[in-house]
Amino acid sequence: MSKKVLLLPGDGIGPEIVTEAEKILRKVNEQFSLGLTFDQALVGGAAIDATGIPLPEETLEKAKQSDAILLGAVGGPKWDKLEMARRPEKGLLGLRSNLQLFANLRPAILYPQLAAASSLKPEVVSGLDILIVRELTGGIYFGQPRGVRDLENGERQGFNTYVYSESEIRRIGRVAFEAAQQRNGKLCSVDKANVLEVTVLWREIMDELAKEYPDVELSHMYVDNAAMQLVRAPKQFDVLVTGNMFGDILSDEAAMLTGSIGMLPSASLNAEKQGMYEPCHGSAPDIAGQGIANPLATILSAAMMLRYSLQADAAALAIETAVSQVLDQGLRTADIYAEGCERVTTQQMGEAVLAALGA
Ligand code: IPM
Ligand code: MG
Repeated sequence: MSKKVLLLPGDGIGPEIVTEAEKILRKVNEQFSLGLTFDQALVGGAAIDATGIPLPEETLEKAKQSDAILLGAVGGPKWDKLEMARRPEKGLLGLRSNLQLFANLRPAILYPQLAAASSLKPEVVSGLDILIVRELTGGIYFGQPRGVRDLENGERQGFNTYVYSESEIRRIGRVAFEAAQQRNGKLCSVDKANVLEVTVLWREIMDELAKEYPDVELSHMYVDNAAMQLVRAPKQFDVLVTGNMFGDILSDEAAMLTGSIGMLPSASLNAEKQGMYEPCHGSAPDIAGQGIANPLATILSAAMMLRYSLQADAAALAIETAVSQVLDQGLRTADIYAEGCERVTTQQMGEAVLAALGA
């Protein structure tokens, strides 16, 4: 049976990097006879320009019908002045919530070839392999009420609500415990339970779940300390689980440990393992259209997609191996460039991965 892949290039460098990832996907589709079919749709600023809204009905419908989605990035200065509800980011958030993609997996792996690209000392980061499990459809990102209101004294007041129900905490907790079981059996839950009641509950539920996973060693850490520990001694972590906003922040930090956010893929899954896959970096409007963006995070996201949503492990592994090979060959886009390497464009990097995949 054929499986439907929806490509959502989006904004900024999105179209450039998705183009390269698409070539790779089409190649492994043939090599491994995967029976994938491809379609495209508009999201974010590109959708606003064409239709006036960031998540057109047609895009949402195609997303719901697909087995997996590969997204580039959304947003850019062109749309920054729009009211909140019409901003490009709402397209992304709308996809996450409509498809109930509550589990966001963000691995941060240091490629040995890129050890010098990290801003931390090589001994601190060498061999780094951590996984951040971020709750993606709840917390302060989606909590109601929210807005800006007029106070009686004539001032305006902005407000958001940080909420998590037990079931939301439990389902993301299970994903994290199961991921830890598959890895090194260590899970650190990150909260702010010294200040925020919502995370007191979060901690309580994680402790409850721990009883069902005796093979996983659970620890708790306040988010400020976690931010510090990530740069002090990141290798102490195996799997981290946290809420939507803390996960947003910590995953950018973890990404930088590896030298370049341009290398990191992510998966956002729902209970049916349908998923949306995207690079951890954003739309990088400052370098859009110049052909210098790093397509590897998107290509590696395509590999994650093959593994998690399309049951094509061998094809996923082939892509990951090919990426490692082009790094061995010394090919580097600008973001990971180091002396003695060969600087390549987005397209050259894509072509090199293609070539490494073989005939
Ligand atoms: C991310 C991004 C998004 C988020 C933005 C673009 C809405 O920063 O995927 O980490 O905050 O979740
Ligand atoms: Mg982010």
